[in-house]
Amino acid sequence: MCGIIAYAGHRPAVPVLIQGLKSLEYRGYDSSGLAFVHMNKLHLFRASGKLEALESKLDSGHILHATSGIGHTRWATHGLPNETNAHPHLDVTANLALVHNGIIENFQEIKDSLSNQGVCFCSETDTEVLVCLISHGLQKKKDIKKAISWTLDQIEGSYAFALISRDHPGTIWAARQASPLLFGVGTGENFIASDIPAFLPFTKEVVFLEDNELIEMNAGQWSVFNSSTLEPVNKEVKTVSWDVQAAKKGGYKHFMLKEIFEQPKVIKDCLSGRINREEQKIILPELQNIAVPKRLHIVACGTSYHAGLWGKYVMESMAGIPVDVEIASEFRYKTLVPDKSKMFLFISQSGETADTLAALRLVKEKGFPVLGLCNVVGSSLARESHTVIYTQAGPEISVASTKAMCSQLVLILLLTLYWTGKNNPEEKNSISEAIKSFSSLPDVLEKELPEMQRRIMGISRDYSWAKSFFFLGRGIYYPMALEGALKLKEISYIHAEGYAAGELKHGPIALIDEEFPTFAIAPSDHLLGKIKSNLKEIQARKGKIIALTQAGSELNVDDELQIPQTWGPLNSFFILPALQLFAYETSVYLGKDVDQPRNLAKSVTVE
Ligand code: F6R
Repeated sequence: MCGIIAYAGHRPAVPVLIQGLKSLEYRGYDSSGLAFVHMNKLHLFRASGKLEALESKLDSGHILHATSGIGHTRWATHGLPNETNAHPHLDVTANLALVHNGIIENFQEIKDSLSNQGVCFCSETDTEVLVCLISHGLQKKKDIKKAISWTLDQIEGSYAFALISRDHPGTIWAARQASPLLFGVGTGENFIASDIPAFLPFTKEVVFLEDNELIEMNAGQWSVFNSSTLEPVNKEVKTVSWDVQAAKKGGYKHFMLKEIFEQPKVIKDCLSGRINREEQKIILPELQNIAVPKRLHIVACGTSYHAGLWGKYVMESMAGIPVDVEIASEFRYKTLVPDKSKMFLFISQSGETADTLAALRLVKEKGFPVLGLCNVVGSSLARESHTVIYTQAGPEISVASTKAMCSQLVLILLLTLYWTGKNNPEEKNSISEAIKSFSSLPDVLEKELPEMQRRIMGISRDYSWAKSFFFLGRGIYYPMALEGALKLKEISYIHAEGYAAGELKHGPIALIDEEFPTFAIAPSDHLLGKIKSNLKEIQARKGKIIALTQAGSELNVDDELQIPQTWGPLNSFFILPALQLFAYETSVYLGKDVDQPRNLAKSVTVE
């Protein structure tokens, strides 16, 4: 949520900041701004709306002279998404400018106290309160690091921020607490950002900042301190393997389409080094010292939660491990029943989702073993889990998650096969069959996708009039139905609900008429007969139906799209992109902002 970029180096800073903000725009895009020091003066540019609005305000004169500065792209939490509330925020007394992600929970108390002391505020944000408090601290402590430390002792909540001062041109301070912040180490230039793509074109050398750490940097030097004691902290510089191309559109009209089409490669990358074809074994060295769980508890949000729910079906039916799946925002406030046989699996693409992290911390505190499944290397979830398995899907830029879910399904299945091998050695044949089918899956899927997109484009146009949709599935395809509905609503703004098909007649069927279509997932498996009956009930009420079918499961419905047939759970890898493409094509046809849908942002780092 919200993006931060800060730069100090030898290049003109504003183009670097704008480039960084472009790559962070997926984290928030309702307003943006930047600030820098030039000629002994703080310069501030802010605009509401997309980044282009900010760019059009930048006059090309003096902006090219500054070689350091801070930038921000916002997803509003406190106050409307207008220019006044856009970051950076200034404190004019001390000539400080600050960009901030997160929420200062006690901001109102601090604001009232500062107001009583004569401080005037221009915006409704908690960020302005933060910069004014630092300024207040500076009056007492006469040193910026000490002023920051004094301030951080008083604030509650989550934050990642970067600060500049007119009186110290070229120096930037930044700190974090429960909100991601990274430091990028260049040659004669350094970066701070909330996500790696912001500085990826310049450096792959990264320092992952932890909670309670404060960094001071300029073009040639950097030091990290404990933000309470101001004792120096030694940090390791790590090299990330992400490449710049992976964070670009690569000829596709939208990141979402690119990421949907990347899924065959994602499957290959996820499988790489994890399958031993000769011995017909799954290799997950991360799990070497971990016993097969007696009971697994999966916790996640949104699309990652749907992946977890899908995992319940495969894990229980193949590995025989009982699985509970919970939404992190609910789980974190529930009573945790002590049951030492449980292992927890937290799933998150970003590894920074606030609710998922809070749930993880709770579980760790109670002494349960924690396994993390995560895409972003070095993210909070990856660092805080006892054991982490990376999905290796590469950067996912589009707000709507697609390839990340694909990679989560691959890993969940690998985990299932791995534990099946240990729990049920008699299942050797199904493991061999799974490995064989997995190996051919990427190529089959790659061939299938263009034609799938062509067909779905036509179907989605025919249904673009719909105001509401049901997505139905049974068994392993019930979580897929939830995901299909989530994708459609988030990027096309068409109301959609996912249901287990058998639930329809317990209420929802009351909504069906000729203007309420249904998208059914009806492959030829043991539940086909059941779903056929559900669809007949819909047709009897004049409901229109689109169905995903397979050879042998043809249905007499309005529109049908046949997908190839493969081994058991792997059929999901054809169904998932079909659902994603349906949402994508509908959104494009309706002229919506596919990659940056309204009210959303990638990586929900606030509760
Ligand atoms: C939907 C979507 C969200 C995320 C959710 C969890 O397309 O992207 O529902 O899946 O916010 O995010 P992560 O996986 O980063 O924890």
